[in-house]
Amino acid sequence: MKVVIKESYADMSRMAADIFVEIINQKSECVLGLATGDTPIGMYECLVEDYKAGKVDFAGVKSVNLDEYYPITPDNEQSYRYFMNYHLFDKMNINKADTYVPDGQATNVAKSCEAYEKNIDALGGIDVQVLGIGRNGHVGFNEPDCELYPYTHVTDLTANTIEANSRFFESEDDVPKQALTMGIESIFKARKIVILASGEGKAEAVKAMLGGKITTKCPASLLRLHPDVTLICDKNAAKFI
Ligand code: F6R
Repeated sequence: MKVVIKESYADMSRMAADIFVEIINQKSECVLGLATGDTPIGMYECLVEDYKAGKVDFAGVKSVNLDEYYPITPDNEQSYRYFMNYHLFDKMNINKADTYVPDGQATNVAKSCEAYEKNIDALGGIDVQVLGIGRNGHVGFNEPDCELYPYTHVTDLTANTIEANSRFFESEDDVPKQALTMGIESIFKARKIVILASGEGKAEAVKAMLGGKITTKCPASLLRLHPDVTLICDKNAAKFI
């Protein structure tokens, strides 16, 4: 894994956006793998800035998102569909019909996950995937466990994640207890992966990802097995490396 330590969150976000812009400019019909959470917001702001400055065109770009709460409606402000529209899609010229987020309203969850996975393949795989990292080393909603599901699946959220995400909801009780998420093998289908980490709160997870055992107990550590992963972090997240 290539490791880049940046002075600040702003620098980290700019570098991540530059990687994406370069790929889009090389391949106008590329497939982006996107994530939600606080960490990629700065990168999305840079992408919008670049779009407005005429440096990048999203007209032919397609995207797949890592995960979504379940159940949740797309108009719920806490849904990841809402997040993506708000932070990125509504601010540039991507064709919304070409943006995919797991279906938080699916009635047949297993079928919906299978279709999501097939769609990633039908799109020709992901050219570049951005990831955040959980304090417990999760990626997407692949939480530390003895074994992990390879492909898109429904999963129970851990108490840890429910608590971490409750900051976005009125109360902890309002946080959905399940999520749909791409699995580790779905993520590994990406030709290039950029994982972002910012702030001291992520320093332990970054240390475990890079220096500990490669184990499903730290899902991010599995990324060391992928041939093209770049970790971009700020100084605070790099405190223990
Ligand atoms: C979001 C996702 C999560 C986050 C992780 C870090 O789509 O899949 O794994 O990347 O929980 O979240 P933040 O960036 O809010 O610290």
